[in-house]
Amino acid sequence: MRFDVITLFPELVESLLESGIPRRASESQAIELHCWNPRNYSTDKHRTVDDRPYGGGPGMLMKADCLLDSIDAVKAENAPNTAKVIYLSPQGKRLDQAAVETLANESSLTLICGRYEGIDERVIELAVDEELSIGDYVLSGGELGAMVLIDAVSRLLPNVLGHQDSAQQDSFSDGLLDCPHYTRPALVNALAVPNVLLSGNHAKIAQWRKQQALGRTQQRRPDLLKKKRLSQEDQSLLTKYLEEHSK
Ligand SMILES: C[S@@+](CC[C@H](N)C(=O)[O-])C[C@H]1O[C@@H](n2cnc3c(N)ncnc32)[C@H](O)[C@@H]1O
Repeated sequence: MRFDVITLFPELVESLLESGIPRRASESQAIELHCWNPRNYSTDKHRTVDDRPYGGGPGMLMKADCLLDSIDAVKAENAPNTAKVIYLSPQGKRLDQAAVETLANESSLTLICGRYEGIDERVIELAVDEELSIGDYVLSGGELGAMVLIDAVSRLLPNVLGHQDSAQQDSFSDGLLDCPHYTRPALVNALAVPNVLLSGNHAKIAQWRKQQALGRTQQRRPDLLKKKRLSQEDQSLLTKYLEEHSK
């Protein structure tokens, strides 16, 4: 999958590929990252990319011309393929796992990172397909949002995670939070690993994990469970969990 990121801070976005899963995804060519600096499309001698907002007010805005020219350059290089153009913005639709799964089906994405007070509205009107926010808070720039998106999408691409099932067991993938996990040693500061995990009984372990996931989701994110239709078996696992945890 190809990511084209339009950013005034390419080195920040490129640093994502220096470690961990994104690095592995890049090395195996599951992802390709190309950064485009709008400053290279500025036409004045000072390579200006921002200007004061019409109507006054604090701060500066990223100018439309160099952003639109950057988008055109990305399109020309991708042609004849067309990539969805996303503007990272606190005003966008909240990025969640369902949106990440949908984006993972695209073959390429163009991500625009704003800075200052944001970007000229006409760029959004003329060239943006979707605005996405990574949460209800304001960042200084869209780069961290783009990096979050690239990381979350990359781990869903074929052969990127070590174990094929890893992503399916993660939180949100089936509308639930993940269950708790333990590794050696069996005792940490007098806290023991739940016995069932040492039993070797795979059916029982799977059932315990499902019950923990259901219970945790109910306790921490009841909004997720409200959206989910539970089977009778899951409902009784949850009821039992809640009984045990209310004692
Ligand atoms: C300081 S913010 C501008 C905020 C803008 N004035 C507003 O209140 O909607 C600068 C840039 O950071 C990025 N940004 C800020 N918060 C974000 C968020 N929650 N999700 C994604 N991008 C964000 C956007 O690209 C934005 O153009």
